[in-house]
Amino acid sequence: MDLPIPNPDPIPVPGEIGLILFLLYLTFFVHVVLMNTLLGGLILTFISEVVSRRSGSPECRHRHEHLAEQLSHILPFTVSLTITFGVAPLLFVQGIYGQFFYTSSVLMAWVWLAVVLLILIGYYSLYLYTRGFARFARRRYWFVGISMVMFLTVAFIYVNNLTLMQTPQKWLAIYTSTKGSGWHWNLDEATLWPRYLHFALSAVAVAGMLVLGLGFREQDAARAGFLRRWGGSWFLGATLLQVGVGWWFYYAIPTQLSAIFLNQEGLARTLFIGAHVLFTLGSLAIGLAAFGRAGSGVGWAGIGLVLGGIAGKIISRDQLRQAYLGQVGWNFDALNTDPQHDVIALFFISLVAGLALLAWVIAKYRREAATHS
Ligand code: HEM
Repeated sequence: MDLPIPNPDPIPVPGEIGLILFLLYLTFFVHVVLMNTLLGGLILTFISEVVSRRSGSPECRHRHEHLAEQLSHILPFTVSLTITFGVAPLLFVQGIYGQFFYTSSVLMAWVWLAVVLLILIGYYSLYLYTRGFARFARRRYWFVGISMVMFLTVAFIYVNNLTLMQTPQKWLAIYTSTKGSGWHWNLDEATLWPRYLHFALSAVAVAGMLVLGLGFREQDAARAGFLRRWGGSWFLGATLLQVGVGWWFYYAIPTQLSAIFLNQEGLARTLFIGAHVLFTLGSLAIGLAAFGRAGSGVGWAGIGLVLGGIAGKIISRDQLRQAYLGQVGWNFDALNTDPQHDVIALFFISLVAGLALLAWVIAKYRREAATHS
């Protein structure tokens, strides 16, 4: 069948494909961890707001209010960093998969463009929540609630676009039925909901690790115990649910494509199995540290293992995308490359400078948080 796939950009990819993929994975990993911290952090802050209002125990109310306030100081940073670390993978995705990514973005143009507005509303709401924590004490949960809904919607739009880009077989029918209006959601995609839930649960798990980490650093013993148990429970609960959602996702993928994860030897299978081993070991370590059976060193090691698992999943996810696009005859041979090592060196210099800036921002934040507390 003749598919309406545009030609690759005539401008060659400015580096070896392996290098560009490496940069895509590296920057997308940072994006995912930050985005998970943001989304999951908003969910956990909202839950703490609800608990602190509903609970009959003053101690419980106080603990949750304190946690909500702690998270409210971290989350605005994660918004700006999620956005900044979204731009870099966006460039690399366009460089390699531009023919697919641009087309799906055009097919759902209005929905896609709405992302900017939703992020703005989400960001302002979050600032109102943080800055007005004391002033809007009675109604502030609205602000964090609105922000949570906005960012969850943004994530949903991303999943719509990134699934649509890898199924060019559907494009012509979509263009015809929408008359090119740009109003389209990829709702008939079988993997859409499990993929979205997979991201949402991963967000809660990562935010659980953040709360656990706050517990490891807390000086007050009672509060530290609460943060460890609360963070550890959300991590473990979300990860357990992930087992069901993960299999739902796996079986929603066409069998000939999901075969790369278990039935065919290769990088995808190694990463898939390796990531799950890391998640299992990491969850065990986190469980032990959260419930006082091991020290914070074991907990931090668990967090490191889980982050390693996420890195593995990021590469597997791209292997799956390549398998999808292989179905329509695409592979990397379609791309011309013209490595511009000076530009790439400049990129690395800016990356290192950016990371140094990030370290400075975190140090500044910690000073501010210490003064505040
Ligand atoms: C701040 C709110 C944001 C949220 C909640 C968010 C969420 C997500 C999610 C859930 C995905 C994975 C979708 C999938 O694989 O199905 C994703 C991918 C991606 N996001 Fe973000 N995102 C945000 C902002 C941004 C921004 C502002 C940019 C760029 C300027 C960006 C760039 C990307 C790119 C390029 C990918 C795909 C990378 C790839 O496919 O290899 N994101 N985002």
